[in-house]
Amino acid sequence: MTQLAWAVINAREEPLNKDSLVAGALLHDVGKLLEYERKDGKIVKSAFGEKTRHPAAGAQLAEAGKLPNEVVHIIAAHSHEGDTMNRTPEAIIVHHCDFIDFEIIKARVTKRG
Ligand SMILES: [Fe+2]
Repeated sequence: MTQLAWAVINAREEPLNKDSLVAGALLHDVGKLLEYERKDGKIVKSAFGEKTRHPAAGAQLAEAGKLPNEVVHIIAAHSHEGDTMNRTPEAIIVHHCDFIDFEIIKARVTKRG
């Protein structure tokens, strides 16, 4: 997904923050470390994850790590939670590239049955 986002940002002519885009793309799902846990050899929702999805959890981790606000925003806004936010251009790119990646993988898995 980061490679896809990198290709998109390099195809754009307006000045965009490539550092924020790459950091946000690489870390967009970091909150899954809190949303899920391994239990009896399986990956399941954690107690934390039952209440808080990974975009919010990831934004909290990014803030705790003192990452730039632009990166925190990309992480927070990458999924449907960001649909009511004013996404930055970099966040728009990551959001759409994430869904391109997700939808294609989902279609392939569904096709395999
Ligand atoms: Fe995600």
